[in-house]
Amino acid sequence: MAENSASLASRKALLIAVDGPAASGKGTIARALARHYGLPHMDTGLLYRAVALNLWRWGGDPGNEFEALRACHELGIDHDDPELRSEPVSQIASAISAYPAVRAALLERQQDFAGQPGGAVLDGRDIGTVIAPEANVKLFVTATPEVRARRRMGELMARGMPAHLEDVLADIRARDARDSQRDVAPLRAADDAILLDTTELDIDGAIAEAIRLIEERAAG
Ligand code: DC
Repeated sequence: MAENSASLASRKALLIAVDGPAASGKGTIARALARHYGLPHMDTGLLYRAVALNLWRWGGDPGNEFEALRACHELGIDHDDPELRSEPVSQIASAISAYPAVRAALLERQQDFAGQPGGAVLDGRDIGTVIAPEANVKLFVTATPEVRARRRMGELMARGMPAHLEDVLADIRARDARDSQRDVAPLRAADDAILLDTTELDIDGAIAEAIRLIEERAAG
């Protein structure tokens, strides 16, 4: 743990909310913050992805809220399943996450995780606004759609899932629109969130900047 994090580390509990759009770097930043502060981490997007994958495998209809809700039951998450991060599952996750019943079904699991005695790091779209508005620190991570599309391309290639940049960019724009325009818990920065634009930063730079901003907020 870094010495300059003493002010935060000495708190009884440290709850960090990290929100932002797809491929902004929020997941990597959240994992790094969890390591840095010695906290457990939850990637809440994986919950929505697991529901989407369930639905997809059953051949359920993402346009039907009741079927999407059924896919929430007995939710097991195999973190190593490559389908979880595939584009079709990303699109279905974005669609079913607009349903109030689906969000309600996943709420308790996230709030229980956030309420652990020592604190936690959660990343998603509505952590700072809905899941944990009481978080000690809220980060809202952004980057331009073009830069995010290139990052997503790199991830897909690395997993042996080749794609076209224009398609990935179109998917990212479609998801941004859906995630931020839905009625329930839309993607938006909490009023007291710290904004972190990672467009010009590599991953080490983004992590260092996240820690610097958090320490600055704690000191102020
Ligand atoms: O972070 P991600 O790309 O893995 O998330 C997949 C989808 O899940 C995303 O399009 C929106 C939804 N989501 C959400 O609505 N709320 C969250 N806290 C996390 C993800």
